[in-house]
Amino acid sequence: GENGREVLVLLGGAGDLALRMLLPSLYFLEVDRLLPHDLRIIGVARGEGDGASYKALVREQLGKRATVEEAAWSRLAARLDYLSVDITKDEGAAQLAGLIGEHGSLVVYFALSPSLYGPVCNALQSAGLTGPKSRLVLEKPIGRDLESSRKTNAAVGAVVGEEQIFRIDHYLGKETVQNLTALRFANVLFEPLWDRNTIDHVQITIAETEKVGDRWPYYDEYGALRDMVQNHMLQLLCLVAMEAPSGFDPDAVRDEKVKVLRSLRPFNKDTVAHDTVRGQYVAGVVEGGAREGYLQEVGKTTRTETFVAMKVAIDNWRWDGVPFFLRTGKNLPDRRTQIVVQFKPLPHNIFGQATDGDLVSNRLVIDLQPDENIILTLMNKRPGLSEEGMRLQSLPLSLSFGQSGGRRRIAYEKLFLDVFRGDRTLFVRRDEVEQAWKFIDGVSAAWALANIEPAPYAAGTWGPQSSNGLISPGGRSWKA
Ligand code: BG6
Repeated sequence: GENGREVLVLLGGAGDLALRMLLPSLYFLEVDRLLPHDLRIIGVARGEGDGASYKALVREQLGKRATVEEAAWSRLAARLDYLSVDITKDEGAAQLAGLIGEHGSLVVYFALSPSLYGPVCNALQSAGLTGPKSRLVLEKPIGRDLESSRKTNAAVGAVVGEEQIFRIDHYLGKETVQNLTALRFANVLFEPLWDRNTIDHVQITIAETEKVGDRWPYYDEYGALRDMVQNHMLQLLCLVAMEAPSGFDPDAVRDEKVKVLRSLRPFNKDTVAHDTVRGQYVAGVVEGGAREGYLQEVGKTTRTETFVAMKVAIDNWRWDGVPFFLRTGKNLPDRRTQIVVQFKPLPHNIFGQATDGDLVSNRLVIDLQPDENIILTLMNKRPGLSEEGMRLQSLPLSLSFGQSGGRRRIAYEKLFLDVFRGDRTLFVRRDEVEQAWKFIDGVSAAWALANIEPAPYAAGTWGPQSSNGLISPGGRSWKA
């Protein structure tokens, strides 16, 4: 930094996210020598402890996910500090400012309950920590609905400018998500076909095998719609559906995403019954292990959904009549994050009746997890001779980004680097968050009006049966 060291403050520094994701990401960046050379890292939490015990805790957690390289660890440990304060209070923030002292750019990462964002911002401001050199990194969820997200955004916006705010959606840091943008806009092949003329429909699946587990106090207030659809799934939808931005810069990209969000057709009492599915898991078996039902896990009766599927319409010229099918849930049979772009059937088969059954419409599959692949299925001739003349078959043309080059990066590594560089392209702008909430509020309001309760599904199945009915008209089906 110009006048002193760059500083990264991790609020919630001893919490689950910091220990499981953020500090390991910083460690891996350290291994590759990608951290700003003079960076200092301060973990802030309310618990007792000091620098030494904090380092021990971080080291122990790191050991759970990697074989720790001593040299890199000692470089990271030398940057680490710990402060035990209540950061919602002016005195706490003043102590933090004292510890920081003279500094270059300052990044404050909010790995905290979002209900604290407002008070923390005020305290940081009172301690002089929200000047032009500061960047605030905010984790989701920003609010629980449009109104609360506006309040949070306003509270943060009262102390720093939008250009200083980095709202995280960690899906945007995933390698294959960025690859989707490269695929669309660094090739001449796809864009001319990327619309209602050639595409039949799009599927986006984020399936998790995990149960809700210990996070239930948070999850039970949100449910799958707010936890996954409002952010990760709508972001993926935007990247598939948006127009070509004029450049890969923050406002150009985010302008295009907001336009998509504004074009989402709102649900009403009638369409919500037909075009959405809400589910909640009951006892079952996932990957060979018995799982309790959600209600047993939380120990009370609640109507929170752990599965959502929906058929979303985008009301614009490009996508008119092309449904986007979304589904996500906990305790599903597979861990799979996947985007399927299904092209239309051929207009006319020149190869004769015998080959009708051979024809499979082209499909582009983008696998984000657990493997990273992009696969385009193409028709070609079956090799060899046949008495019936030419026969056809479908084969995959595949780009696979296997782990051959080593370990797979944590999405947060990329996002940290971008925060240090000040690049907001992969972060969510205020109007994007709010527009997404507006759509989600519409879904939950329609559910309430139509009295739609979550339907049970056994853990280890693909959600309630009705999610097949959602996609099946027109002969469509979820990709197996
Ligand atoms: C988080 C959700 O945002 O994303 C979790 O709160 C979910 O419920 C997680 O498990 C999924 O992220 P990933 O990177 O494991 O797909």
